[in-house]
Amino acid sequence: MKSMQVALMFVLVLTIVGIRNSSSDSPLVLDYYKETCPELEDIVQRIVEIAVLKDPRMAASLLRLHFHDCFVMGCDASVLLDDFGNVLSEKQAGPNLNSLRGFEVIDEIKYIVEEACPATVSCADILTIAARDSVVLRGGPTWDVHLGRKDSLTASFSGAKQFIPAPNSTLDILIANFQQQGLDTGDLVALSGSHTLGKARCLSFRQRIYTNDYGYYERDDEYLSALRSLCPRSGRNNALAPLDLITPARFDNHYFTNIIEGRGLLISDNVLVDQDLQWEIREHVFAYASSQEHFFDSFVNSMIKMGNINVLTGDEGEIRKNCRSPNSYTN
Ligand code: HEM
Ligand SMILES: *[C@@H]1O[C@H](CO)[C@@H](O)[C@H](O)[C@H]1NC(C)=O
Repeated sequence: MKSMQVALMFVLVLTIVGIRNSSSDSPLVLDYYKETCPELEDIVQRIVEIAVLKDPRMAASLLRLHFHDCFVMGCDASVLLDDFGNVLSEKQAGPNLNSLRGFEVIDEIKYIVEEACPATVSCADILTIAARDSVVLRGGPTWDVHLGRKDSLTASFSGAKQFIPAPNSTLDILIANFQQQGLDTGDLVALSGSHTLGKARCLSFRQRIYTNDYGYYERDDEYLSALRSLCPRSGRNNALAPLDLITPARFDNHYFTNIIEGRGLLISDNVLVDQDLQWEIREHVFAYASSQEHFFDSFVNSMIKMGNINVLTGDEGEIRKNCRSPNSYTN
């Protein structure tokens, strides 16, 4: 009888371990560069720190750069490529043009990393570590970044237009958009919390401040009129407003109280608390608004998930020498 119980227990444990392994089957590992480039994480951290000291917004920009990389063909540094041959850069696509920032910082990191460990570290891994360090520098949570990504041999201009969500997306579109990447509604809400940092252009929030029919949870008229004086009905397309007007420089959970109080800058922010839409999503928003710890835990989980999207490993892709062009186009 006793041995029967032990045997059952054994099967149970095996099953749990099996399930756990199959649900976290990322090919990436923590100590990928342990032997080949032990100073990697120190180098990235140091240069991100200097860049953010010089330009505090850079933390936001590097975080967003990683997101825009991962949503187009996976986290493969495709977003970093300039035009080459007859391939158009993703940088030219609508969601990125005159908007994405931070390429020079990645170049700088790559330059120092190449000095320390030549032809060893991918641009995709550098970008992932830089995004994590950016969050930490602004007071957000930290986590261990799994490594071993390879860099793409090409870019996808059409993918950048198709897969990066527009600021006027409806909730259904956002949900579908994240689903295409293997991310669920929990990830959508947690990752949208990135809009606790950084800025958006008038062009990105004009429709939100001159159209009234979104059924927002609440409406803040003072906020609206401040935005309208910054961003007229036409012109001043590049005027900037903070995505989190209360604590724009801190990575915290204020984004969620903002959107509950009708002060989300983008339509895509406000639809997360839309009256008529999915209760499950609004529940996440309220939970994150009331517990920063809960937000941080979920954010870390979702960032790790996002950082795993369609990664190239092993023989796939290459280690670029220059993050802006494939090796076959680098002299
Ligand atoms: C949910 C769908 C999302 C939409 C529709 C969206 C849209 C936008 C837009 C339109 C901007 C301003 C761009 C400009 O006007 O130049 C922006 C900025 C930003 N986004 Fe998102 N975003 C989304 C999700 C995310 C995610 C998942 C992350 C990170 C994991 C992120 C991080 C950021 C950051 C940090 C900024 C500020 C960048 C800066 O100041 O340079 N966003 N986003
Ligand atoms: C979103 O904005 C684009 C470009 O300004 C516009 O063409 C489109 O109709 C808008 N979509 C919605 C759902 O309002």
